[in-house]
Amino acid sequence: MRGDVAVLVPAAGLGTRLGPGVPKALRELGGTSLLEHAVRRVCLAPSVGCVVVAVPPGTAPDLQAATPARIQLYVVEGGATRQQSVAAALAVTPGSYEVILVHDAARAFAPPELVERVAAAIRDGHPAVIPVLPVVDTIKQVDESGHILTTLDRSALRTVQTPQGFRRDVLEAGHRDVSVAGGHTDDAGLVEKLGIRVFTVPGSELAMKVTHPTDLALAEFLLTHGEAR
Ligand code: CTP
Ligand code: MG
Repeated sequence: MRGDVAVLVPAAGLGTRLGPGVPKALRELGGTSLLEHAVRRVCLAPSVGCVVVAVPPGTAPDLQAATPARIQLYVVEGGATRQQSVAAALAVTPGSYEVILVHDAARAFAPPELVERVAAAIRDGHPAVIPVLPVVDTIKQVDESGHILTTLDRSALRTVQTPQGFRRDVLEAGHRDVSVAGGHTDDAGLVEKLGIRVFTVPGSELAMKVTHPTDLALAEFLLTHGEAR
């Protein structure tokens, strides 16, 4: 349905792994910040009616040019952890939105088709939906001394991306339950702990997360070679 989805965009991280500089979401690629790239792409998805951005405290990025007039835009200060930033954004999201997606600003080139795929799966009746890709490397579990404990079955493993989608009540319950608060690196982790079954849909190579300096180079390549619109 057109405009029935709210997207929360946590963008308040420091970007420590990227090295010294301004907060990661405010780093520029092709003269535009990662955050603006992310918001602009998300707004290309017809389902999206509202975008709530959690920005680094003390900053006020101008997102007007990235946001079409039909989109409701809210900007809040993020918190010390990603989870706190998402909670701050959720707290100001208008109650009329029953489908809520959470999308890392650092995945600035996720295509609008991916947003639609996740939203469609929620509308199909899944309470929580995440985009995933097959694992390309062999994954092993190690102990504290650096020795291998076991080799995991790669065929059963997936890497997880955003946007992750939730029925509003499910996401609110995940963030409300203090017993599940803690070191979660994504939002599905919160609702899994509540016993909610999380559904997967195919992810996209374009939804790669800018984490290390080499990722910036890859993102620049995607931008200049037209892979990312
Ligand atoms: N994020 C946030 N608030 C925080 C920490 C992270 O809104 N306190 C956001 C980041 O801005 C990013 C997303 O969560 O868009 C994913 O986090 P990550 O890739 O870890 O970004 P950073 O925390 O900025 O990077 P690093 O961990 O290297 O410092
Ligand atoms: Mg981080």
